[in-house]
Amino acid sequence: MDTGMDIQRGASTKASPLVRDILQRDTKAVEPAILRTGGSLPPSRPIPARRYTDPAYAALEHDHVWSRSWQVVGREEDLPEIGDRKPYVAGRLSYIIIRSGADEFRALGNSCLHRGNQLCAAATSGDKIRCSFHGWSWNVDGSLDHIPSRWDFPDVTDAAFRLPEAKLSRWGGFLFINPDPDAAPLEQSLGVLATDFRAQDARDRFTLVHVRKKVRANWKVVLEAFLEAYHVIETHSDSMGFTGDASTQYDIFDNGTSHISRLITPLGVPSPHLGDTVSARQAGEYAAFAFGMAMPGVPLPTITSDASARSEVAAWRRATLGAGFGHDFSAASDSYMLDSIQYYMFPNFCPWLGEGLPLSYQFTPGDTPDWSVMEIRATAPLPNTGQRPPAAEMIELDFDMPLSSAPQFGVLAHVFDQDFGNLPTIQEGLRAAWARNGVCTLGRYQESRISHLHAVLEGLIGS
Ligand code: FES
Ligand SMILES: [Fe+2]
Repeated sequence: MDTGMDIQRGASTKASPLVRDILQRDTKAVEPAILRTGGSLPPSRPIPARRYTDPAYAALEHDHVWSRSWQVVGREEDLPEIGDRKPYVAGRLSYIIIRSGADEFRALGNSCLHRGNQLCAAATSGDKIRCSFHGWSWNVDGSLDHIPSRWDFPDVTDAAFRLPEAKLSRWGGFLFINPDPDAAPLEQSLGVLATDFRAQDARDRFTLVHVRKKVRANWKVVLEAFLEAYHVIETHSDSMGFTGDASTQYDIFDNGTSHISRLITPLGVPSPHLGDTVSARQAGEYAAFAFGMAMPGVPLPTITSDASARSEVAAWRRATLGAGFGHDFSAASDSYMLDSIQYYMFPNFCPWLGEGLPLSYQFTPGDTPDWSVMEIRATAPLPNTGQRPPAAEMIELDFDMPLSSAPQFGVLAHVFDQDFGNLPTIQEGLRAAWARNGVCTLGRYQESRISHLHAVLEGLIGS
């Protein structure tokens, strides 16, 4: 059997070592989560194009994935008051995510039990959930409140006409639902997330920026564009001076019930594709410049040598972010302060670890295989006053609106727009490939997280 032990795990140069070598030179004790390495890689496999385009495959995903998986639906802070609610839609699934008590959340079926009208089309609030057709209403806990002309519905009982519910669980300030009434607890799906992220730390963050972007591409096309750094050389070539794309480390953590993968892309080192044409010192300067664009007015550091470049940028990040957020980063490793450390929990959740890129992603399918929604949020630790600033309001971006129309993302918007620029043409190309029964061919290491995703899908769907 292919154990994946004999494959080349990335490329390096003198100025751009592999992640494991970078971590050995860290100026602080590296967090155990970052030192953790994954198990064996899945065999790479040809991926049929139809998985991204065929409505029949999307229907299988509905039955075997979305109807039966723990999936992220938002954060507690999105719904600060009792009665606050918002819709969560994934293909044919639709739930009202609602704060039903001071410390209680529910996922209620988003369909009127009278004649099916959708009950919640957009984020709203109030102590009743009232249908806009004939005015049937429910309380925030899903119990029946009122039916006009109740005398005309002699068979309707309060007990039978509660709104149906999906299971809802919470971790680290995130809300997850599972429509399967027999689902195992969320913890079994979280796997290494539960140890690699301290739940308290994840909960004690607040949303700085939150965007919901519609994309003309299958949800897996969008997700997979963010699971590898292989595309940096072509899509983000202007980042190569300070991004260790080919030296990125990929790990799979899968125990059969939790399906997690991770990448660590080192920042402040040049791309190995550049050979030694960019020095470590220059890469440090480029990285500081890129980080500095998110902090206008903050003076950039002076990088003194190749050997200390990364640690100097990290020290500057500890000081400037620490002052900006009123938070103590003195124990955090260079890697924690700089690198892109992105986890993926099947099927739709990407939390990032550390302050290099403090993001989280949520992916959901549209009602056809050809479009989907990606939510991106940037978070920050709570200030040391302990006061929770209000979560940033979600910005909705339609298909043709770029992320740069949400200026809050600063320089990152440019990077995301480079990614989003590819996605509709990938979908079009995959439709053409589907017509000739074509397949995608994955890199053995750099695209191993995509192989893993499809291994999980094959396990659930059988094709
Ligand atoms: S469909 Fe909702 S009250 Fe009639
Ligand atoms: Fe990208």
